[in-house]
Amino acid sequence: MKKIKMYKILNTIKDFDQQAKEILNHFGKVDYFELSQSEIEQKISDYDILIIGLGLNIDKQIFDKAENLKVIACPATGLDHIDIQIAESKGIKILSLKGETEFLNNITGTAELAFGLMLNLLRKIPFSFDSVRIGEWKREKFQGFNLKHKTLGIVGLGRLGKMMAKYGKAFEMNVIACDPYIDEQVFSELGVEKQNFNEVISKSDIISIHIPLSEQTENMFNAEIFEKMKNTSFLINTSRGKIVDELALLESLKNNQIAGYATDVLADELSFKQNCSNNSLVEYSKQNNNVVITPHIGGMTHESRKATDIFIANKVKQAI
Ligand code: GLV
Repeated sequence: MKKIKMYKILNTIKDFDQQAKEILNHFGKVDYFELSQSEIEQKISDYDILIIGLGLNIDKQIFDKAENLKVIACPATGLDHIDIQIAESKGIKILSLKGETEFLNNITGTAELAFGLMLNLLRKIPFSFDSVRIGEWKREKFQGFNLKHKTLGIVGLGRLGKMMAKYGKAFEMNVIACDPYIDEQVFSELGVEKQNFNEVISKSDIISIHIPLSEQTENMFNAEIFEKMKNTSFLINTSRGKIVDELALLESLKNNQIAGYATDVLADELSFKQNCSNNSLVEYSKQNNNVVITPHIGGMTHESRKATDIFIANKVKQAI
């Protein structure tokens, strides 16, 4: 009988799904470790396959030690935490969810969170709950805004942007969007008005970002853009922190140039090591009721995690 090669797999994803673990067991000996950046660096040389989530930065220092590494697998679509160029130059395959449109159409967690952040920001839910938690019952303090008839501007009408558009429609919002890569027909099927980026920026009451981070989109939301936004408008970000120039954002919040920001991502989150104190936006949010921040939990639902863990385990199996 042909002997199956058993690969050495390092899996750093906490609570990896049981069914997904069983898939890996067929072709590998898997070590499950929650590791810091420097611990990975020390251990990586032993492994053929690395499975990671979003918290680690797979950079040159790690690649230099990764003598046996053949595959990096990450159940995410955004891969800005992996130096793809180095991986390619070393012939290391990167497996992810990027481009897996059919599968991803059922992964709704991030769009649902974007909508939730919008409701939380406009209805001041986190701040009113903070107040109840200290025993206050002050209705007048937490007057918010309706969604109905507000203009929701979606930047990027891909998978998540489309979901967000549908949710906005269900709340009777006027949905507009910009996306140069999406056919007119998709806009009209969704009942979404096609506009250019500047129009979306200047006309929307709420703008939601659904584009990937790239050289072109880094700091796309900067001082100039905040100036063009209505001073009553809110910005929602469930994409990547670096798409927003956070220093310029802070200034625009302080100067009442925009009304508020809700985000699941921060520009320097990869350096946090589970601790975000000292981040200036986090500090601002402690004193002001117009910023909501969650710790990159868009995909962190039981359903999404199970489905994506199993999908990535199968993808590794097929690739090797
Ligand atoms: C989540 O942020 C992802 O990139 O999939």
